[in-house]
Amino acid sequence: MPIDQIKLTSFRNHAETSMSFGPGINVIWGENGSGKTSVLEAVHILSIGKSFKTNRINETVKHNTDVSRIEARFTKNEKKETISFSQSTDRRRQLKINDTVVKAREIVGKNPAVLLSPEEQKITKGTPGDRRGYFNKLYSTVSGEYFKSLSIFTRTLKQRNAVLKNPNQKEQFNTWDDLLAESAETIWKHRICFNSKYNECLKTVSKMYNKNSVSISLNTDDTKKTKDEISTELKKREQIDLRNKSTSFGPHKDDFTFLFNNTPVKQFGSQGEHKISLVLIKLAEYMFIKNETNQTPTLLLDDLFAKLDFERSDAVLALLEKKSQTIITNTDLVDIEKHGIDLNDPNNKSFHLERQCSN
Ligand SMILES: Nc1ncnc2c1ncn2[C@@H]1O[C@H](COP(=O)(O)OP(=O)(O)OP(=O)(O)O)[C@@H](O)[C@H]1O
Ligand SMILES: [Mg+2]
Repeated sequence: MPIDQIKLTSFRNHAETSMSFGPGINVIWGENGSGKTSVLEAVHILSIGKSFKTNRINETVKHNTDVSRIEARFTKNEKKETISFSQSTDRRRQLKINDTVVKAREIVGKNPAVLLSPEEQKITKGTPGDRRGYFNKLYSTVSGEYFKSLSIFTRTLKQRNAVLKNPNQKEQFNTWDDLLAESAETIWKHRICFNSKYNECLKTVSKMYNKNSVSISLNTDDTKKTKDEISTELKKREQIDLRNKSTSFGPHKDDFTFLFNNTPVKQFGSQGEHKISLVLIKLAEYMFIKNETNQTPTLLLDDLFAKLDFERSDAVLALLEKKSQTIITNTDLVDIEKHGIDLNDPNNKSFHLERQCSN
């Protein structure tokens, strides 16, 4: 669902900024600190309800103000739709679709976005938790059932772990274990199916980008587990869990390993291999969302030209489909011209941001 217009109020360094986007390539340019990445962050929040820069989303409220607001207008099947998100410093938030207050799960998947930014390099370089976070976000985007089961699982796990820290409440185990096993079964069922589809996308993009015969794939343990098997395993580990005061079995322990030419990229990848792996991962993500939802995600390319050499960034642009809405940030327009992006094309737009003195 392409974004027609976005308005940021008291968001990061933006006091009030409005931008209209075209359905093609949109370039946001300006000096360091002018607020380019913040615009992508705002689009990302409207897409998934979360920032990619912080878990404490109230940090995005402009200093010395109380409430931030992001509002965007979309066109879907020729109908206009408005999604807004307001956030206060005291952690209250409100999401609306066309003036109706909604829960986060109602916006997830409505306007999928794929983000390629320096922060996302944690997918290949970061902890197993970073990779789980990546796949949880992606699979939630394409499946409401996954999103719901994950929310139940996360909440229940927290409660079970609290009980583990307080053995006086030991009799509550069975209540939590049942809920935990049920949601874990659904999460694993979806993960097994999605992992295989996602891997196919990785194979396809690796073939498309075949300059250096690169292959990237995902390695996971996809053994099917039923609710009963999960409950039995939880019971079996009760003593260990009580000793360690945390739950040792479940989807929160899954490991997603990316292989670059059959070798784990996290341990052995060179800087360049990490970068190209991330690009292929993102292109596969784009393809996966498109296949699963029939929607074309908006591509958010933060600092693409600063992070990739000319040849690689050109390869990324060549792989983009012409009909996908793309938002690129850069400090100037020189790289944009070098890559042959025509800003006179009526589908493309550019927006210049200036650093505000009152930051
Ligand atoms: N809550 C906030 N209130 C006010 N200003 C903030 C807040 N959070 C961040 N900033 C400031 O907003 C500015 C914009 O940051 P942003 O990352 O969007 O810039 P950018 O244009 O992407 O810069 P770069 O080219 O360096 O990547 C920074 O100067 C940052 O210090
Ligand atoms: Mg930036």
